[in-house]
Amino acid sequence: MTSIVLFGPPGAGKGTQATRITQSTGLPQVSTGDMLRAAVKKGTPTGIAAKQFMDAGQLVPDSIIIDLIKERVKEPDAANGLMFDGFPRTVPQAEALANITEVTHVIAIEVPDSKIVERICGRYSCSSCGAVFHDKFNPTSTKGICDECGSGELKRRADDNETTVKQRLNAYHQQTSPLADWYENRGIFHRIDGDREIDNITQDILLALK
Ligand code: AP5
Ligand code: MG
Repeated sequence: MTSIVLFGPPGAGKGTQATRITQSTGLPQVSTGDMLRAAVKKGTPTGIAAKQFMDAGQLVPDSIIIDLIKERVKEPDAANGLMFDGFPRTVPQAEALANITEVTHVIAIEVPDSKIVERICGRYSCSSCGAVFHDKFNPTSTKGICDECGSGELKRRADDNETTVKQRLNAYHQQTSPLADWYENRGIFHRIDGDREIDNITQDILLALK
């Protein structure tokens, strides 16, 4: 069984790479950010509780996140492992995950802060299939049409503005980056330079997973 954690700051390319790694490994992508956005859209109690933190660029409390993951791992497609995107993000979340399933690889996608705002503020994604694009770095081939599924509904995320991105980066440096040491001590931490072409990063991640 292989369970992978994609680790990195906002805009590092976790979602972009997760889609590609899923295609190669068959492991389902588990993005806590996507799960929370779906809960906000549906107006569930989890979504209502999480929204204020997400809008402010702060981490959602650990108890909410850990409950989401406990439910997700019960689904049948989790039997052969999962690829976590943006989870865990705190040491208590990593400790909880260690009690749920064994993590075999942590892939840290490293991008300097100076590149993050441009990446986040140029991002848009497909409302139908979730494919992620960028105004400058990864545009759709035809303006306004998703390359993956052909849908015409491309949208920007509510938290993708400069003010919130700066808060998200602060949260990353204060609460999430300490997790690097936690995983490095366990010998499963792989650093990947994320400030390169998308294809080159995918190749290096696949090598690290061998
Ligand atoms: P989440 O949705 O996880 O957001 P994030 O961590 O801020 O990361 P992003 O999704 O913004 O970036 P990404 O790394 O996926 O980059 P992408 O591939 O899209 O979380 C949102 C919020 O939910 C959090 O702020 C928090 O409130 C809450 N939350 C979620 N999980 C939580 C948890 N575990 N605990 C507590 N709270 C939690 O790429 C970005 C852009 O760059 C795209 O436009 C893409 O096309 C482009 N791009 C990608 N790769 C490259 C490249 N190599 N070169 C140039 N451009 C590139
Ligand atoms: Mg993402």
